[in-house]
Amino acid sequence: MDIEEDIRSLQLDSAEENNGVVNPGDARPEEVEVVDKMEEVKHKEVSAVEDAESQQETEGNNKRHLNVVFIGHVDAGKSTTGGQILFLSGQVDDRTIQKYEKEAKDKSRESWYMAYIMDTNEEERIKGKTVEVGRAHFETETTRFTILDAPGHKSYVPNMISGASQADIGVLVISARKGEFETGFEKGGQTREHVMLAKTLGVTKLLLVVNKMDDHTVNWSKERYDEIESKMTPFLKASGYNVKKDVQFLPISGLMGLNMKTRVDKSLCPWWNGPCLFEALDRIEITPRDPNGPFRMPIIDKFKDMGTVVMGKVESGSVREGDSLLVMPNKAQVKVLAIYCDDNRVRHAGPGENLRIRLSGIEEEDILSGFVLSSVAKPVAAVTEFIAQLQILELLDNAIFTAGYKAVLHIHAVVEECEIVELLHQIDLKTKKPMKKKVLFVKNGAIVVCRIQVNNSICTEKFADFAQLGRFTLRTEGKTVAVGKVTELPTVSSSA
Ligand code: GTP
Ligand code: MG
Repeated sequence: MDIEEDIRSLQLDSAEENNGVVNPGDARPEEVEVVDKMEEVKHKEVSAVEDAESQQETEGNNKRHLNVVFIGHVDAGKSTTGGQILFLSGQVDDRTIQKYEKEAKDKSRESWYMAYIMDTNEEERIKGKTVEVGRAHFETETTRFTILDAPGHKSYVPNMISGASQADIGVLVISARKGEFETGFEKGGQTREHVMLAKTLGVTKLLLVVNKMDDHTVNWSKERYDEIESKMTPFLKASGYNVKKDVQFLPISGLMGLNMKTRVDKSLCPWWNGPCLFEALDRIEITPRDPNGPFRMPIIDKFKDMGTVVMGKVESGSVREGDSLLVMPNKAQVKVLAIYCDDNRVRHAGPGENLRIRLSGIEEEDILSGFVLSSVAKPVAAVTEFIAQLQILELLDNAIFTAGYKAVLHIHAVVEECEIVELLHQIDLKTKKPMKKKVLFVKNGAIVVCRIQVNNSICTEKFADFAQLGRFTLRTEGKTVAVGKVTELPTVSSSA
């Protein structure tokens, strides 16, 4: 295994450059409780689109499907841009917009009406902040997209992690308004934390939209746009993105809907010769997934509806009505009764799709989010211990990282307490080779290989075999302290 390339793919080389060390936000202790509560309610559907959606024919619709997560600092305009996309693609009528305009005005939040399309909870509308990941669907020429609108506020980072871990591509929204880009980008701003998390969680391509170009402090200024691009570029590189290949910058106004469905008018922005947002989304290329691989669908939610229904994104393989599968880690044998893709019943579905699957053979209360619906012949590994390579980002109060360190592990849809039981060896940042000296503790910026234990069995895979199920983050008291990848699993683990 080429360790150097491997490290790069997890942006573990970022510690070499100072500007690559990510500085996640300081979460006050009282915020932690909010985070924990929020973890219970991670997903909401945007109902404005349901009618349009149920008329769509999914089977026989050969367009590819991609999950796109909207990330970025609080108030950057993620929900407004997401709402505008739905409006421009004809899924929200004028009457609904007028209703939202009135409601926003009544709450003294006039400019928030577009965000109300995505922010459907009363709490979100009152505070003007997304809490749960909003979901909605739209199509371009080549692709069916599911939008996952993540919250920007630092208290809700676990919800953002859940959204990003289901995403194929990301739209990083940056506000160009005077002072707002700066706050988001500085130490403690979520622009940095979100980029680092997105990369770790497998979001390989980013569209970086410089938003609020209409704002009176910006006025479609080329200088401001160039300034943001030039400051973001080194940071994105240090976070492991190949900026030329994997990142596309473009200016938009989410609120006005400009440079979104059609290119911005030259009279307003004479210097922009690039694509609009829909074109850029349409053109994004990602590595095709293997429809014949072993079936893997991490379960993000479940409910009772004439049986047990589980919800998730297919990370590998395909599923058909009538298939026998296993729910891991509890090895429950189940049968697929029905498959729903964007609310349409389908007989089979391939990788990359967001599905609801009705199962027989298991009760809803016997499933937890983070369980994985898996092939019987090649079930996903279920373990209580694994070996991983970690990059330490920023420990609380610059604490040292030793055996006995406890944190919350976020891996695909799993959120579980874990303990570092042994540090095996440290990786030399220069040579990228394991150091011979025995290691008892490490500090910020270090790369270390260690043994990690969890109390309850979790489903995972080696990063080398299955990146999406083998990358993770460690968080303590509301802060991301490390990112990592699973390098070894106990040998007996996967026997079903
Ligand atoms: P969180 O969900 O809390 O992280 O915020 P968000 O990124 O979803 O931001 P949201 O869409 O709620 O917008 C925040 C504020 O910025 C609202 O007042 C919007 O009207 C305003 N805003 C968003 N996009 C634009 C834009 O293109 N131009 C201008 N002028 N204002 C915008
Ligand atoms: Mg929002």
